[in-house]
Amino acid sequence: MTIWFMTTNRGKVEEARQYFASYGIEVNQFEFEATEPQADDLEIVALSKIEQAIPHLPNSSDMLLVEDAGLFVDSLNGFPGVYSSYVLNTLDVHGILKLMDHLKSDDPIQDGNLRKAEFRAVAILYKDGQTIVSEGVCPGRIAHQAVMGDGFGFDPIFIPTDLDEDGNSLPIGEMGAKSTHGTPFGGIPLEEKQKYSHRHRALEGLLSNLDMLG
Ligand code: IMP
Repeated sequence: MTIWFMTTNRGKVEEARQYFASYGIEVNQFEFEATEPQADDLEIVALSKIEQAIPHLPNSSDMLLVEDAGLFVDSLNGFPGVYSSYVLNTLDVHGILKLMDHLKSDDPIQDGNLRKAEFRAVAILYKDGQTIVSEGVCPGRIAHQAVMGDGFGFDPIFIPTDLDEDGNSLPIGEMGAKSTHGTPFGGIPLEEKQKYSHRHRALEGLLSNLDMLG
């Protein structure tokens, strides 16, 4: 089985490839530049992109995947959200750190709550005229300093909350069976990020509903 993943982001393709490989599904990058609508909802953006791309599929029976994500910072009222890509290109991760410079506390839990944020991803899979939609969320907080590594986008400044033994996210400040011990996504290996990742969770939702597409 092959899925065409419509994205220009190679980091995303690698994550999806690694995830679907364990289910025997091959992921190919589908390079198509869709126009992004001005909307404050990830699902509306992703649906618009998939509709634009369908006529350009190499084979009409192929499956097409679109995934749209964003970083939503609580204290900035959800900014940059759907504008994450634009903000990354203009302010970069250091701009976000600057905007949040005044949000700090000596108490680690209070500090975490002041810097609370989440990644959200909406994944849409198209096959034979039908679509399934799935959302994944990864709660966490914004670090005080960037940790550059193998990750992409906002990975250098995003620290996920700990996970319990079943892989569920815990509230900020709660110690779990799985933890990055305060290291942002940028400083951990990709296999490790997958355990927390919003994208991974959205793709998991798609896979569990794949039979709906026949
Ligand atoms: P996109 O529009 O879904 O490609 O993502 C919007 C922005 O969020 C892009 O600048 C991405 O680099 C960033 N982004 C999306 N997912 C992640 C992630 O898992 N880690 C870090 N940044 C991400």
